[in-house]
Amino acid sequence: MCFHTNMDFHSSPRRFSAYLLLCLCLMISISRGYGSQKLYIVYLGEKKHEDPSLVTASHHDMLSAILGSKEDALASITYSYKHGFSGFAAMLTDDQAQDLAELPEVISVTPNQHHDLMTTRSWDFLGMNLDHQPPSKLLQRSKYGEDVIIGIFDTGIWPESRSFSDEGYGPVPSRWKGVCQLGQAWNSTNCNRKIIGARYYPAGLDKADQANNYMSARDINGHGTHTASTAAGAVVEGVSLHGLAAGVARGGAPRARLAVYKVAFEGPKKVQLASAALLAALDDAIHDGVDILSLSVQYNDNSFGALHAVQKGITVVYGAGNSGPRPQVISNTAPWVITVATSKIDRSFPTAITLGNNQTIVGQSLYYMLKNESKSGFQPLVQGGSCSIEALNGMEINGKVVLCIKETFGPPADIIPDAITNVKSGGAFGLIFAIYTFDKLLSTEDCVGIACVIVDIDIGFQVATYIGSQGSPIAKIEPASTITGNRVPAPRVAFFSSRGPSVKYPTVLKPDIAAPGVNILAATGDGYVFDSGASMSTPHVAGIVALLKAVHPDWSHAALKSAIVTTASTKDEHGMPMLAEALPRKVADPFDYGGGNINPNAAADPGLVYDIDPRDYSKFFACTIQKYDICNISTSPAYHLNLPSIAIPELRGPIKVQRAVTNVGEVDSVYRADIQSPPGVRIKVDPPTLVFNATKKVHAFKVSMTPLWKVQGDYTFGSLTWRNEHHSVRIPLAVRITIQDFYADVA
Ligand SMILES: *[C@@H]1O[C@H](CO)[C@@H](O)[C@H](O)[C@H]1NC(C)=O
Ligand SMILES: *[C@@H]1O[C@H](CO)[C@@H](O)[C@H](O)[C@H]1NC(C)=O
Ligand SMILES: *[C@@H]1O[C@H](CO)[C@@H](O)[C@H](O)[C@H]1NC(C)=O
Ligand SMILES: *[C@@H]1O[C@H](CO)[C@@H](O)[C@H](O)[C@H]1NC(C)=O
Ligand SMILES: *[C@@H]1O[C@H](CO)[C@@H](O)[C@H](O)[C@H]1NC(C)=O
Repeated sequence: MCFHTNMDFHSSPRRFSAYLLLCLCLMISISRGYGSQKLYIVYLGEKKHEDPSLVTASHHDMLSAILGSKEDALASITYSYKHGFSGFAAMLTDDQAQDLAELPEVISVTPNQHHDLMTTRSWDFLGMNLDHQPPSKLLQRSKYGEDVIIGIFDTGIWPESRSFSDEGYGPVPSRWKGVCQLGQAWNSTNCNRKIIGARYYPAGLDKADQANNYMSARDINGHGTHTASTAAGAVVEGVSLHGLAAGVARGGAPRARLAVYKVAFEGPKKVQLASAALLAALDDAIHDGVDILSLSVQYNDNSFGALHAVQKGITVVYGAGNSGPRPQVISNTAPWVITVATSKIDRSFPTAITLGNNQTIVGQSLYYMLKNESKSGFQPLVQGGSCSIEALNGMEINGKVVLCIKETFGPPADIIPDAITNVKSGGAFGLIFAIYTFDKLLSTEDCVGIACVIVDIDIGFQVATYIGSQGSPIAKIEPASTITGNRVPAPRVAFFSSRGPSVKYPTVLKPDIAAPGVNILAATGDGYVFDSGASMSTPHVAGIVALLKAVHPDWSHAALKSAIVTTASTKDEHGMPMLAEALPRKVADPFDYGGGNINPNAAADPGLVYDIDPRDYSKFFACTIQKYDICNISTSPAYHLNLPSIAIPELRGPIKVQRAVTNVGEVDSVYRADIQSPPGVRIKVDPPTLVFNATKKVHAFKVSMTPLWKVQGDYTFGSLTWRNEHHSVRIPLAVRITIQDFYADVA
C-alpha cells in the first residue's frame, strides 16, 4: 500500500489516513535497500483488450518503459494476468515498483506474499459420519451436481484415488475451456471426465523445492486430494479407519467435475503458497469456466482476484481460518466471498479406561486393535506430569500407561505430538492425555502401536488422585467405539474456528456460515484419512453450492450465499441454542457461525434472497483502495451493501440501513418481519409486511437502529426474520454502541 502516491489531500475523510500512509512510505523508503529484486504484483483493474495476447503485450510495453528494454521486461515478468483482469507479477526493485505505482493506469503494486493452508499436516484420529441415509431431495434434484465444475486451489490431486473415478460420467461440459497440463508423473490419462482440468504454478520455487514436489498437478502432500474428495469425491463404499467411522466416503456433490489448480507446494518446513501464483490460477480459472472455487487458504490481501471471479459469475468459497477461539482473527472477509467457519458433527469415539479401583472413565481416541491382536488387560499406570523430556527423565515407563496433564493452554498441535514422541520412545504401552477442551486431536498418526486417549482436564485430575492413593496403580484401555446421533451434542462451533468480527471490513458480518470440518474422512493418496480444519469445512460448502447451482443455474453468487445464510440452523439437534467451543464453552453468536450451521436442503428453497448487483461490490472495493477516486462513502455507507446480515461497528445515533429482498418462492406470498433486537438497540423495520405478486418480486425496506444507552459498548446480537407459512428468512445482526471515535476494548 506504500505506493499510493496520487492521493487527494483535500477529500477530507481520507486526509488523515493518506497522511499517515505517506509518513509510513517515507519511513520505509529511508530504511529500504536499493537494487535487490523482489516479486511484486501489479494490478491494473479491468482488462482493456478482449484479446489476451494484446493484454500481455501491453504488460510487456509498460514494463519495458520502466526497465529500459524489452529483454529485461520479458526476463522480469513471472505471470501475466489477462483473462479475468489485467495485471502482472514481476521481479522488481523497490524503486521500479514505485515507478510503476506512480503510473496513472496502475491501481496497486503490492509485494508477493506467502500464505498458509488452513490445516496442519498432521492427520487426525477421529471420524466423520458420512451419510448413511437415502440421498436428500437436493442431491436428487441437482443430479448430484453433475456438470457443475468446482475449481480446487490446493496442493494438487492424486488422480488414481477411487474418489476420482469417472465411471458413468457423460462428456465434459462443452463450455469447459481449461487444459490438462502435462508434467512429472502426470500424462493425459490422468485427466478424465471427473478431473477435467489440471494446472500447476511453480514459479518462484528453487531447485531444492522443485525436487521435493512433483512438477505437475500431482499431490505429494495429501491436502488437496482430501479437499477435492470432500467437495466432489465420487461415492466409495466400505471406507473406514480400521473399522472406525465405517461407511461411504463421498463428496458433497459426488458427480460434480473437478478442475485442479496446484498453487501450494511442499517447502522445507511447511507448504508454500505465493499470492502471485494464486492470482495466476484465479485468472486461469476465470478463463477456463469454473463455476465454484474452493480455497482452503489464508489469504488476506489482493482480494481483487476473487472480486473479478465473482463478477464473472464464479462463487468463491474461502475458509475462515484455524486461529480461534480468539476474536477478530478471521481471514478472507471480503463481502463477495463466502467465509466458512468450522463446526463439529454428531460422531465421537468414546474410549473406556478402567482404573484398578474399577472406576471407568471415558476419553476419546482412535485406538484400534489389529486383527491379529487380542485385547490387553491391566497395565501399570504412572504419572508423567507434562510428559516433556524433562518430566519423564529417569522415569521407568516401559510397558506402562502414562498419564500426561497439560495445565497451561497452548495450541494442542504443538503439545500432543511432543508428548507422544517422548512417551513412545520410552516404550510405554499407552498414554492418557488430559487437556482443556479442544477439537483437534492432532498428529495421532505417531500414535500407531500405542493407545493414546485424550480426556478432559478434570478427568485427568481424577486419574492423578487415583494414582496418588495407590501403591501400584493400574489401568486398562479398551479399543475405541464409534457412536453417532443425538447422544453426541451437535452441531457445535469447533474450538479452533476463527472468530469475527472482521478487522478489515467491520461492516461486513463474518464468518458467513459454519460447516463440518472436524474429523473428516476423505481421500489422500490411494487411501482415506481423517483431517480437521477450515480446510475441510470450505469444500463442504463448495460441494453444497455446486448442488444449489445445479438446481438454480440462474441464481447469482449473492443469491446463493443468501440462501445458505438465511436458512442456516442456530439450534442443535435437541433444539437448544448451538454452542461454540471456547474457554469457557458458550452459546454461539454470529461472530462464531454467521447465519448458523449450514442446512443444504433448506438452502435449496429459501423463499427470499438478498441479491447484489456485482457493480456494488466494485463500489465497495473502490473505497478500500485509496487510489480509486470513485469512492463516495458519504452517499453510500458500506453497511448498505445488500448482504444477508447487518454489522454496525459504531452505532452513535439513529441510523437507517437499506436492504432489499427478491422473492424466489411462491409468486403470491406475504412475509412479516420478526425482530430479535440486540440488547441496548431499538430496531424497527419499515415496512413490516411485504406483499409479493406476479409483478412485485423485489421489495426494498429499511431497518432503523437506535441506541438506547449512551455507553462505550460491546457487540450485541440479534436477528431479523421474514416469515410466511413456509419460510423463515433469517439474517443475523451485530451492533456495537459507541460514543467516542477511538475505542480500545481492554476493560
Ligand atoms: C500415462 O501414465 C500411466 C501411469 O500413470 C501409464 O500407465 C500410461 O501408459 C501413460 N500413458 C501415456 C500415453 O504415456
Ligand atoms: C473390580 O471388579 C471385579 C469384577 O467385577 C472384582 O472381581 C474386583 O474385586 C473389583 N475390584 C475392586 C477393587 O473393587
Ligand atoms: C500383526 O500384524 C502386523 C502387520 O499386519 C504386524 O506388524 C504385527 O507384528 C503383528 N502382530 C502380532 C502380535 O503378530
Ligand atoms: C459524494 O456524494 C455526495 C452526495 O451526492 C456529494 O455531495 C459529494 O460531492 C460526493 N463526493 C465526491 C467526492 O464525489
Ligand atoms: C402487485 O402488487 C402491487 C402492489 O405492491 C400492485 O400495484 C400490483 O397491481 C399487483 N399486481 C398484481 C398482478 O396483482
